[in-house]
Amino acid sequence: MTAPSVTITPRGAERLASGHVWIYRSDVASSAGAEAGVVRMVNQKKCFWGQALYSTQSQIALRFLTRESRPIDATFLAERIRGAARYRAQVAAGAHAYRLVAAEGDLLPSLIVDRYGDCLVIQTLSQGMDKFKSAVVEILQKEFAPRSILERNDAAVRALEGLPEQTGVLAGEDVGEIVVEENGVKMSFDLRHGQKTGGFLDQRENRATAANYAHGRALDCFTYTGGFALTLAPHCDSVLGIDSSADALKQAQRSQELNGFSNLEWKEANCFDFLKAADQEKLRYDLVVIDPPAFARQKSSHESALRGYKELNLRALKILSPGGYLVTCSCSYHVSEADLLGVVAEAALDAHRTVTVVERRTQSRDHPILLTVPETHYLKCLILRVC
Ligand SMILES: C[S@@+](CC[C@H](N)C(=O)[O-])C[C@H]1O[C@@H](n2cnc3c(N)ncnc32)[C@H](O)[C@@H]1O
Repeated sequence: MTAPSVTITPRGAERLASGHVWIYRSDVASSAGAEAGVVRMVNQKKCFWGQALYSTQSQIALRFLTRESRPIDATFLAERIRGAARYRAQVAAGAHAYRLVAAEGDLLPSLIVDRYGDCLVIQTLSQGMDKFKSAVVEILQKEFAPRSILERNDAAVRALEGLPEQTGVLAGEDVGEIVVEENGVKMSFDLRHGQKTGGFLDQRENRATAANYAHGRALDCFTYTGGFALTLAPHCDSVLGIDSSADALKQAQRSQELNGFSNLEWKEANCFDFLKAADQEKLRYDLVVIDPPAFARQKSSHESALRGYKELNLRALKILSPGGYLVTCSCSYHVSEADLLGVVAEAALDAHRTVTVVERRTQSRDHPILLTVPETHYLKCLILRVC
């Protein structure tokens, strides 16, 4: 059966020609009663532009699938999922918790599949992909034979699609906590209640890299379940992890116990307040990690986000010992690497510190960045050294 057609405007066609994978509703000329699911995109002269997932509700009306005219079915999805897995076999070899399918980054729009040991956690974040949920589960069972497949469809973006929040077991066992090794350290993840699908897998490589610079006293601000702190611990005299979430810190404590680390402490606090007090009390650290939540979720909060990043980085730079390292991150797509470098430079000047840029990093490679889709490059991580 041929999929229904949706007509795109010349501007929509230009966007596709430039390599983008989203068409906004304002660039849909006619959808002629198309329902959520796979559609054929045509221009106003009826020329075929490829196939996409159509949403009846989201401002992102079309999510590009392929330029080919072929059935979009379990065979198509399985090919793409196998392709994603082949890439992970290269870039996540030896990892036990990583993103197996990264939505647009793997040309499987709005499908997330995260692997935690022998368990998989999935999210179907658009109307079109949600319709393929059971097909995806069948493919995952066949390809990977996981112990469990859980659904974490409680992400806020589902509301933009008119989709309900849903969580639960889709196949296999009902797994809550799982312990996996990441960068040689045991980490406990709560797959049912943790943020995202349980953990911030996009920082896996940055955590390992930060450990290369770790020494003395380290401070991990916005530690969540202790990802950076636990990875730094074997290389430091002491590490303090701070977060405002008591539940996240309980999980961090659990991982600490699993590893038997005695040089780690956790503190429930607002990082802005802690850093201010630390400076006043003249506390000093040899490595500070700043990994806050996205401050600029919309373009309109760009300026206030920059003020937030500047304040955190200024305070962090003030408490670093000479020769110390700052690992500073932003996961706001609307804050570019240039923006982050700019605010850290301002912070360094205000703090009267000379700073060198040691590494400019991004999300782990299992979260691919599409060259022509800037939105897929969201995480920035700078490693800086204070002279
Ligand atoms: C991006 S996550 C950090 C991820 C973590 N670094 C990791 O590698 O897993 C941001 C964390 O900041 C915490 N948070 C948000 N606002 C905070 C604040 N003002 N002070 C302290 N923690 C905060 C959240 O609870 C969340 O755990």
